[in-house]
Amino acid sequence: MTSAAEQTLQRLYVADAEQRAANLPSSQRTRNVDRDTGHFLRLLATSIGAQRVLEIGSSNGVSTIWLALAVEQARGEMIGTEILPARAAEANVNLTNAGLNHVARVEAGDARSIVARLQGPFDLVFIDAEKDDYITHFAAVIDLVGPRGLVLADNVLSHDLSAYQEMLRQRVDVETVTVPIGRGLEYTLKR
Ligand SMILES: C[S@@+](CC[C@H](N)C(=O)[O-])C[C@H]1O[C@@H](n2cnc3c(N)ncnc32)[C@H](O)[C@@H]1O
Repeated sequence: MTSAAEQTLQRLYVADAEQRAANLPSSQRTRNVDRDTGHFLRLLATSIGAQRVLEIGSSNGVSTIWLALAVEQARGEMIGTEILPARAAEANVNLTNAGLNHVARVEAGDARSIVARLQGPFDLVFIDAEKDDYITHFAAVIDLVGPRGLVLADNVLSHDLSAYQEMLRQRVDVETVTVPIGRGLEYTLKR
């Protein structure tokens, strides 16, 4: 990892920890993936040589940076989405500071509208938006995921996402497992 990316992540993790320590409501926090999860995402995306990555719920870009580090190695592209315009703008500044704006960008707007105008295939989709919307986001992205592509979803152990997990286990076109890392990652392979 470059020192620009590491310094940017370090600064953003300090800010995230301060927000949590201050007990700010979740609407005022950046709610970033923890370091282990970010590291896991980067290694996983690197392992599969992911060239096209899509993120649903980018906040200020911490997980975007982790994934973009892998995409940069594969000379690919990453598209993030963030419904709050100020957060999306912040994410793009953070990607620039991390030296990754040539491979990744975060689009401002509702992921559901953004995804509707994207073309696949994507090698990896990371879902980390509002938990009640995971099933909707999955339905919107699954046709854009290539064969043996991945859909990863965060917070499946910290929140009740049993309806999402059950939906996946009933589909014949995917295989899924819950990985107990960080706040819980649902790891779904498209057959
Ligand atoms: C848990 S945070 C994402 C954290 C980010 N993945 C990270 O690790 O840095 C969830 C984010 O999803 C955004 N969000 C919620 N619904 C969305 C939607 N429909 N489209 C795009 N972004 C959405 C929220 O504004 C919030 O910033």
